[in-house]
Amino acid sequence: MPTITVEGEQAFECEDGKKLVLAIEDAGLDIMHRCGGQARCTTCRVEVLSGNVPPISEVEIEALEEPDLIEHFRLSCQIRVENDLTIRIAKRGHIEGIAVGTRPSD
Ligand code: FES
Repeated sequence: MPTITVEGEQAFECEDGKKLVLAIEDAGLDIMHRCGGQARCTTCRVEVLSGNVPPISEVEIEALEEPDLIEHFRLSCQIRVENDLTIRIAKRGHIEGIAVGTRPSD
């Protein structure tokens, strides 16, 4: 099983092929996701500090729009975990004061 390390917080194991946003949430960590994993809201974005993830998709590029965001962030709802990763979560519901949206599908 891959290990996901959230910088400065905790490390946890993740089922192979699980969506990153769900792995983070199921580990008890706060991560925003507002559009149900449809690659529209970009609130689930993370920085991948180490580890291999699939190449960024056209859907992610279109959603992130800004070159600076595309360069530094990935949408955790679009990544299936296959390797150990170290990440940084960009947006937290408790900080933003916004309730998370519908849970993305498996
Ligand atoms: S882009 Fe909305 S949950 Fe990922």
